[in-house]
Amino acid sequence: MLEVLNHPLITHKLTQMRSKDTGTKDFRENLDEIAELMAYEVCRDLPTQPVDVETPIGPCVGYELSKEVVIVPILRAGIGLLDGIRRLVPTAKVGFIGMYRDEKTLEPHEYFAKFPKDLDKSVVMIVDPMLATGGSAVAAIDAVKKRGANNIKLVCLVGVPEGVRAVQKAHPDVDIYLAAMDEKLNENGYIVPGLGDAGDRIFGTK
Ligand code: PRP
Ligand code: URA
Repeated sequence: MLEVLNHPLITHKLTQMRSKDTGTKDFRENLDEIAELMAYEVCRDLPTQPVDVETPIGPCVGYELSKEVVIVPILRAGIGLLDGIRRLVPTAKVGFIGMYRDEKTLEPHEYFAKFPKDLDKSVVMIVDPMLATGGSAVAAIDAVKKRGANNIKLVCLVGVPEGVRAVQKAHPDVDIYLAAMDEKLNENGYIVPGLGDAGDRIFGTK
């Protein structure tokens, strides 16, 4: 399943992020706000279970989340989406996977992985602003599946058809959520028009 979350607020904030004149502070704040807006939609089908509660007036059957949510940001840039999602799902656990793309081959390289227990019983949200070749996302999904995850969502800000196809081919069971589907990759593997290097813009590096 692929869902592009076209929403005026998301598009407005993403447009500010795309501008080369937007500095680190505004870039980060817009990303954080988009993450929260996306989380609302991404969580729409989280499983719930009935629970008895007593209101001040009397008994009532309510519903509570029945599965743990585990957010897995792909380091570094995925960290920019973490707080916004956690504001909506404050009980979420957090796993980390460190991945960098070789600038020449565009192959992903894993350099760190730390996950909470019981991924097999959790909804696992892998988050990263950019879905370019899809190599990093496919490798991150491989890593959580190796540890038992079987209910996985991939949440990215900007994707391209190549990256979406790569993930759908390798992991057809994973739901993909984007804020925008851009046109293509350039010869250096950057998304066009995209927003540049997300990690560098979030953390002020270059
Ligand atoms: C960027 C981005 C993704 C990856 C996407 O990370 O945040 O993780 O590239 O590209 P792909 O779909 O072709 O794999 P980068 O490797 O630049 O690392 P960083 O987050 O540390 O900047
Ligand atoms: N990673 C980024 O940060 N930006 C792109 O356009 C592609 C990969």
